[in-house]
Parts: sequence; structure tokens; C-alpha cells
Amino acid sequence: MIPEKVQESLTLALLGKVREMKARGEDVVSFAAGEPDFDTPSFIIEEATRSMKAGNTRYVASQGQPNLREAIATDYRERLASKWVTPANIVVTGGAKQGLYLLMDVIMEPGDEALIPVPYWVSYPSIVKSVSGVAKPLACQEANGYFPTAAELEAAYTPKTKILLFSSPGNPSGTMIRETQLKEIIDWCAKRKVYLLYDELYERLVLSPERKHISALSLVDESASEYVFAINACSKTMAMTGWRLGWIAGHPENIKRLTAIQSQMVTCFPGFIQDAAAKGLREAEGFLEPIVKAYRARRDLILTGINSIPGLKCIKPDGAFYLFVDVSAVIQKKGWADEKDFAAKILESERVVVVPGGSMGMKGWVRLSFATSEEEIKMGIERFRRFCD
Ligand SMILES: Cc1ncc(COP(=O)(O)O)c(C=O)c1O
Repeated sequence: MIPEKVQESLTLALLGKVREMKARGEDVVSFAAGEPDFDTPSFIIEEATRSMKAGNTRYVASQGQPNLREAIATDYRERLASKWVTPANIVVTGGAKQGLYLLMDVIMEPGDEALIPVPYWVSYPSIVKSVSGVAKPLACQEANGYFPTAAELEAAYTPKTKILLFSSPGNPSGTMIRETQLKEIIDWCAKRKVYLLYDELYERLVLSPERKHISALSLVDESASEYVFAINACSKTMAMTGWRLGWIAGHPENIKRLTAIQSQMVTCFPGFIQDAAAKGLREAEGFLEPIVKAYRARRDLILTGINSIPGLKCIKPDGAFYLFVDVSAVIQKKGWADEKDFAAKILESERVVVVPGGSMGMKGWVRLSFATSEEEIKMGIERFRRFCD
């Protein structure tokens, strides 16, 4: 047998379970989804069909089609204030996950360390492990939105530290990094020659109008970008999770090296999907507005509802579509073992699916996705209330 390097993604396994339960007709309220409940906009689907019918079904450039890289670069320059970004700064990947894996694989030697601020996206430690790296969770302050300070990074640093990895907006926290914090982190990374993998997958899903997403590439110029990578994808913002289309943005020499590996590993990603993504990116503003509005209304609904239940405490999510909830007081009151026990019991007695937070570095917490209808959210809150009573 081949070695069992990592375990299957907990959230994907849960999603599969929910699908089966729903197919059996069970009355289940799922807060497990890590994907939008909106469908891919039809004009994106039509563009993929058009492209396929026009014959774009062969190998294309390993770095990504020029039209897609141009659309991404334009977006960085015009919307994300990263004025120097051109198609030479972009390599196309199979979703954000393959981009992250690729970077880890290139940067890490066996035994090298990746610092991962807590709470983190469930897959980060497994991706590190799959390239024989060591994932080092880093506890950060709630007051700092769970993002690290330079002093915290310095205290965790060893000569084996090669990567710092986090997302903003955060999954599961929904917190967003501020410009001064990001600048401090970028400076520290350059000083210590640690690569920052800045995952901005949810950057268009900003739910608090007073907050703004800051792109890491807007805080450095090209010559100072050696240690900075931005990772993004169409998955969450354009409701294209199944299309597997993402990208990495960074220094052109780094991008060349990543492209060489893509050419040996995957050859390329489908051209018709890249055409569709390019069109989606160019026209995103139009269809995103009502979607963000819907997520905002759901955020307000679930935040107010869950916070009103005695014993529960939440982080207010400024972005993405997750609510991270401290259920430790309820666990203690009921004499249960931990948040995994909480998740198993709420599934058993109330048919509510949540993701245990231990897998994201915070025991005693659970993650609720609100990428689901207001009706389900209301039903879920009532079940939570009954369960925690
Ligand atoms: C923070 C974060 N990064 C990366 C991913 C993976 O994204 P993709 O589906 O584009 O591979 C996810 C998916 O849940 C995520 O939440």
C-alpha cells in the first residue's frame, strides 16, 4: 500500500454526508457548506459552451491563456490598487487549493515549517503535511482579528520557517486584515525571507461596508514582491467551485518557475473554462452586488440569532460566509467532551450539521456556513436554541 500521508478533508467528507442525508429525504439543516448556494451565472456557462463549440478544446498555455491573465491583471490594477501587475505576474491554477499545494511543494524542503495563524482553513495543515513540511499553528489575539503581529511572528520564527499562510477574509473567522497589519507582516516576511502566501479567495465577499479588502500586491512594488504571493480563484466569489479555476499572482521570476512546474504537472487547465472565467471576471461587478447583499442579510440574521442564545459567543464576520461560534460554555454546562461531541449530538438530536473547530485550530468552537437560504438559517437557529437550552 502507498503511505497514508493525509486524511480526507473533513468539510468535504461532511458535505458528502449531508448530500446522502438529503437524498434519503432526511429533514437536515446544513451549516456545513463551504460553497455558495447560488448557481454559476448563466452568461459564464454560455461563454464556456461558446468557447468549446468554437474549438477551444486543445492544450493551451501552461501559464494560463493570455486573455484570462489579462483580465486578472486588469482586475488587480483597477480594482485592487496593485498598479504594476501584468499578465507576466499571473499563473493559472486548478482552484486556490492546487495553487497553494504548488507553492508549498516548490518552497518547502522536508522538515521546513509553515506558520499558520489560528483559526485557519481546515486544509492548510494537511497541504503542508502532504509536502512533508511541518505546520506550526500560531495563536493570535482576538483584538487583532486573529492576524499575527511582527512580534508574534518573530517569537515563532526558527531557521526552518519558510512560509506564513493565512486568508483574509478569514475562513472560519470572517475577519479582515487591516492595511497597517498587512504592511507589518509583509515587512517582517521580507526581513526573515519567509514567503507570505496570502489567500484572498473571499476578497469580493465583503459584508461590512466600512471594511475594505487590501491586496498584498498593493503594498509592495514589483521589485519588492519576491516574498509575496496572492492566491485567488473564481470558486467562491463567482459561484464556480466545481470549475476548478484559480491563480497565483507574484514576482515574474517566481511565476516563471511555478509555470515550469505546472507544465510538467498538469500541462494546462481547460481553455474553455479560462474563457468563461475571463468573461466572468470582466463582468463580475454586475452580478456580485445582489449576491453580496444576500450574504450580508444572512450574516445579520445568523449573527443576531446565534448571539441571542445564552452561552454562545460569535466572531462578527466582516467577510466570507462563515460564522465561528464559541460553544465551550454549553459543552461545559452539559458535561460533554468537546466540540466534536457537540457536533455529533446536534446532528443526532436536531439534524443540524456544523463543522467542529478543533480541525481549524480552535477547540470548543464550531463553524456555521451561511451560504444557505434565510429559511434554513431561521430553522437552524431555532434548533440551536432548543439544543443549547
Ligand atoms: C480559505 C480557503 N482557501 C482555499 C480554498 C480552496 O478553494 P478552491 O476551491 O478554489 O480550491 C478554500 C475552500 O473552502 C478556502 O476556504
